Amino acid sequence: MTTLKNDRYIRALLKQPVDATPVWMMRQAGRYLPEYKAVRKEAGDFMAVCTNPELACEVTLQPLRRFKLDAAILFSDILTIPDAMGLGLYFEAGEGPKFKHPIKSLADVKKLPNPDPEIELKYVMDAVRTIRKNLKGSVPLIGFSGSPWTLATYMIEGGSSKAFTKIKKMAFAEPQTLHLLLDKVADSVITYLNAQIAAGAQSVMIFDTWGGVLSPRDYKLFSLQYMEKIVAGLTREYEGNKVPVTLFTKNGGMWLESIAATGCDALGLDWTIDIADAKARVGDKVALQGNMDPSVLYASKERIEQEVQDILAGFGAGEGHVFNLGHGIHLDVPPENAGYFVDAVHKYSKQYHK
Ligand code: CP3
Repeated sequence: MTTLKNDRYIRALLKQPVDATPVWMMRQAGRYLPEYKAVRKEAGDFMAVCTNPELACEVTLQPLRRFKLDAAILFSDILTIPDAMGLGLYFEAGEGPKFKHPIKSLADVKKLPNPDPEIELKYVMDAVRTIRKNLKGSVPLIGFSGSPWTLATYMIEGGSSKAFTKIKKMAFAEPQTLHLLLDKVADSVITYLNAQIAAGAQSVMIFDTWGGVLSPRDYKLFSLQYMEKIVAGLTREYEGNKVPVTLFTKNGGMWLESIAATGCDALGLDWTIDIADAKARVGDKVALQGNMDPSVLYASKERIEQEVQDILAGFGAGEGHVFNLGHGIHLDVPPENAGYFVDAVHKYSKQYHK
């Protein structure tokens, strides 16, 4: 068993009592912090930071020096797996991620290897080990990956997309090709996340950023089914410690019951659902993570504090809440506003934990 100085985040995910509601922010390390931009500039680009364990560790710790966050998240990206499969990830300035060799056919899918996390993705495992060592047991480290569906959108579209025409064409014209791809990616995610856990990740989160673009039936078929396979294949206890699993489908508020039924420990919520409704629907089965609209961080200190109080009141008394934003922090948010947010969660949540 490892003991953490601050284990609120792990305890809340396991629905155990805490003294205050834990909080972290999706994309808490990144371009809204001038110290991150300085490291990235020095390194050259984003992937140069990800592939250098010392730099990945440094930027992971940056937000924890500024704010009283209850968890650290590995600095990396969900697209490391497709890159390791040979798709050739690169970032075009201002355009987001792109792949040199997107998936176009069944033959492309059949060729995809299951990357060895300690070879092709060793830089990620080294980052996990370096971060764990440097955290010195202060707060837990979150590992992560993308969901197979979300990774497949980038692998087939060749980058970010708005309409998802290529992957949807494959889903309906050639479903067996897409299923083979999703199954192979799910296997790689299992291997990758279990390796992160063995390297020191104390909890893992699966980002299904694009599951919400599917119909309810197709969501189950193309996204949820594969996340369920992953949950079943993950190491859930490591060296005597439970390793909680959080699933986050953006725009998945309609499907909370089915997501909770996968056997995960917690659901990530975006801001389009009222956390009180979510708790009434699935709060007896899973913990909930969320769910302030990240745009609230543009508001005044008073407005931020009010929003935090409203969400805390919505969840109410009882265990099983990890406070977070409903999606990543925007890159032009003033860092001090993130500080008001984090402090407000701790200050106003104590009354709900007696
Ligand atoms: O949360 C954290 O602080 C940990 C790091 C993290 C990053 N990406 C760093 C990053 C995490 C958890 C991710 C996940 C990720 N990456 C997702 C799922 C979560 C979500 O936001 O929905 C997705 C869809 C991606 C794919 C991706 N990576 C995109 C679309 C982009 C471009 C974004 C942009 O604004 O240009 C990235 C690059 C990326 N990943 C950056 C960071 C800090 C920005 C890179 C930079 O320019 O410094």
